[in-house]
Amino acid sequence: MRDALDNPFSPGSDTIPDVWAGRTEQLSDWRDVVRPRRLAGLPERGRTVLGEPGLGKSALVRRIAQQASRAGDWVTPQLRIPAGADPLKLVAEAVLALAADAGLSTSREKRIGDAIARVQAVALSGVSLTLRGADGREPYAALTELLVEVGVAAIAEGDVVAVIHIDEVQNITDEKALSQLLIALGDALTHEVEVTVPGDARVARSLPIAVYLTGLPDFEDMAGARKGATFARRFKTTTLSAIDDDDLAEALQEFVLEGWEVPDGAGGTARVRMDRDAAALIVDLCRGEPFLFQLAGEQAWYAGGTPTITAAQVRQGWRGAQREATAHVERILERLPARERQLLQVMAELPAAERTATRIAEAMGFAKVTEVGPTAQRLDTVRGIIDRGKPYTFRHRAVEAYLSSDWPRV
Ligand SMILES: Nc1ncnc2c1ncn2[C@@H]1O[C@H](COP(=O)(O)OP(=O)(O)OP(=O)(O)O)[C@@H](O)[C@H]1O
Ligand SMILES: [Mg+2]
Repeated sequence: MRDALDNPFSPGSDTIPDVWAGRTEQLSDWRDVVRPRRLAGLPERGRTVLGEPGLGKSALVRRIAQQASRAGDWVTPQLRIPAGADPLKLVAEAVLALAADAGLSTSREKRIGDAIARVQAVALSGVSLTLRGADGREPYAALTELLVEVGVAAIAEGDVVAVIHIDEVQNITDEKALSQLLIALGDALTHEVEVTVPGDARVARSLPIAVYLTGLPDFEDMAGARKGATFARRFKTTTLSAIDDDDLAEALQEFVLEGWEVPDGAGGTARVRMDRDAAALIVDLCRGEPFLFQLAGEQAWYAGGTPTITAAQVRQGWRGAQREATAHVERILERLPARERQLLQVMAELPAAERTATRIAEAMGFAKVTEVGPTAQRLDTVRGIIDRGKPYTFRHRAVEAYLSSDWPRV
């Protein structure tokens, strides 16, 4: 009991953790808005989920994709874009796989065969111009065409949505590739086909296709500013921030009440419980960071072999995790431009009640308050690290704790 094989916490990235907390708004957005609306043929924008490292963007959309897949939807795997890679190749491959799910690869219709062949060419050569030379058409058009065929097949199948998840979108640094990709996906999302409804009337409907893009907030600058209004109209952006303490506490409630079920090594099961104050301590230590939540839980799990996890074990485990917790926050801060980092530093040093634009401007050595504006705005709307209320507050509570206290030391 309580070893590497039965530990339910998973601080690694790109997993769907067994101990899941919160994000109910985003999960219900899929369940109650995106899926039903796209199934009903109603227009609904794609979703862009952005946030600082470790906030659970990939895990969230993987969970959505898992739920979709269990409901019978056609789902691409999480397509991670490596830095500098040609995203069209990856997406073309994924769309071909969707087409196979949709049974299109065996279709005898010439139109569909041609569409597949064109996307196969994109999968080979990506955005490169050679392709355009061939039939004069841009790669995005081929992708859109096949996506539309997939959508039409999904309508015929009934109660099926095709879900596309592209991760690490901030790595798409080639402007041309980004633009092709966003247009291909956006065109498929807004595409309408005519269907016959009872009474033989013909009506236009959208396709049952859903697109999720995930990545670092920097993507917003690339897509938002340059691609402008078209992108914003076709995709709805959510910036994730810390998970509420209540949600984290709820996630640990199963340990506190019934205990977490694990194999007992003799063919049966046993339960690992957690003292109420141990659970509260994990919630307090991780400051709403899902990664640190998993880390604290994992280390507490390993800190003893008793059937109940105690607060002392949580503390002991965390001591071993402190360096990693520090590194996590430092990684976030290091990515920020100097100005933004400076603002956070200055803000953290002021007493909470005095974190106003005026005081922050003063401390940063600005002559005018308005000079804080653009930096504060980015930290708020683009990154979700602060909230520009009166006074300013931190939404990223681990950053706040690191800059203004001894945290992560216990
Ligand atoms: N809702 C959640 N409840 C509990 N743990 C979570 C939740 N979401 C993510 N995690 C955990 O947080 C960690 C980070 O998650 P994930 O890799 O999805 O973050 P990310 O935002 O994609 O990070 P990156 O920017 O580095 O790709 C993982 O260990 C994951 O298990
Ligand atoms: Mg990720």
